[in-house]
Amino acid sequence: MADQSFVTLATNDSYVKGALVLGSSLQHYRTTRKLTALITPQVSDPMRKVLERVFDEVILVNILDSGDSAHLALMKRPELGVTLTKLHCWELTQYSKCVFMDADTMVLSNIDELFEREELSAAPDPGWPDCFNSGVFVYRPSIETYNRLLQFATEKGSFDGADQGLLNTFFSSWATTDMSKHLPFIYNLSSTSVYSYLPAFKAFGANTKVVHFLGSTKPWNYTYDSRTKSLKGEMHDPKIVHPEFLNMWWDTYVANVLPLLEQHGIVKENTTGVNMAEVTEAVSHMSVSATAPPPSPPAPVLPTVSSQERKERWEQGQADYMGMDSFDNIKKKLDTYLQ
Ligand code: UDP
Ligand code: GLC
Ligand code: MN
Repeated sequence: MADQSFVTLATNDSYVKGALVLGSSLQHYRTTRKLTALITPQVSDPMRKVLERVFDEVILVNILDSGDSAHLALMKRPELGVTLTKLHCWELTQYSKCVFMDADTMVLSNIDELFEREELSAAPDPGWPDCFNSGVFVYRPSIETYNRLLQFATEKGSFDGADQGLLNTFFSSWATTDMSKHLPFIYNLSSTSVYSYLPAFKAFGANTKVVHFLGSTKPWNYTYDSRTKSLKGEMHDPKIVHPEFLNMWWDTYVANVLPLLEQHGIVKENTTGVNMAEVTEAVSHMSVSATAPPPSPPAPVLPTVSSQERKERWEQGQADYMGMDSFDNIKKKLDTYLQ
């Protein structure tokens, strides 16, 4: 199966960490397909070398952005450029078929059967299920399609200012035409769906094949304690009601990626003998302390609020997750609905 490949994209060293976890998870589950990473010049040389240890091909592409090419000048969203870089995946014509996967995904089993699907196969987006999520999709590389996509972007733009909007408009028959192009949700389970539909997660979550850490906070933004095998401060983050997936990501990172980063001098080994990552970005550091962690900040004490106020706070992301909106309470409520 040398003419088929999994493909991912990383435009900077943070996303490379995600790509490395994804690549090593695909290897762990013994894919028989090639692994390809698209990178842009912002990726540092050492990180690129580490990528070459995990991926069969590491290919440098230019960032597609509105300043880059006259073709894209019509697009006014500055962040559009970065995700449009994904379109380069259609240029990989050395392969007959590929599965693109965001760098913030990881596999929990072998998913080579996806190569039996046709372009464009993808799973529904959890926010708008008549759109597919562009974090995992099956496609056929083709320069013709690549050019048509660029032209389409120029003429029509993208309704979300990024690749997912563009691809959904381009492959517009996805929602209605051919069910075989609808991948089951377990091939792109957004980690946020765990708390937005907990009963479904309880019923089907164990079958998850691909987890997607969709959203602005990525696994590498958390701090992980490899002694206790847990995330630091997770109790205070309302988004982590089920830390299992994040812990899996970090376990893979610590076991398979960190040793490579050490070998390439990107992280240093701690004097305690435990790996201590000193990575480039301040936000994405991992630390391991030999002493007890500092005491956690006290939970905010909110005055008693009306259900309307509570709803508004919830919608603004200010859930009282240590009190009224605690995971246990939500679970109890869901359980009563289920009975
Ligand atoms: N990406 C990247 N650099 C960036 C932003 C995105 O390389 O600065 C790539 C990466 O592969 C990432 C994908 O584009 O997984 C889509 O972005 P992201 O996963 O952050 O979007 P989300 O899935 O959270 O909507
Ligand atoms: C989505 C997808 C991601 C895509 C982004 C921008 O949330 O998960 O892959 O890059 O939208 O369209
Ligand atoms: Mn993503």
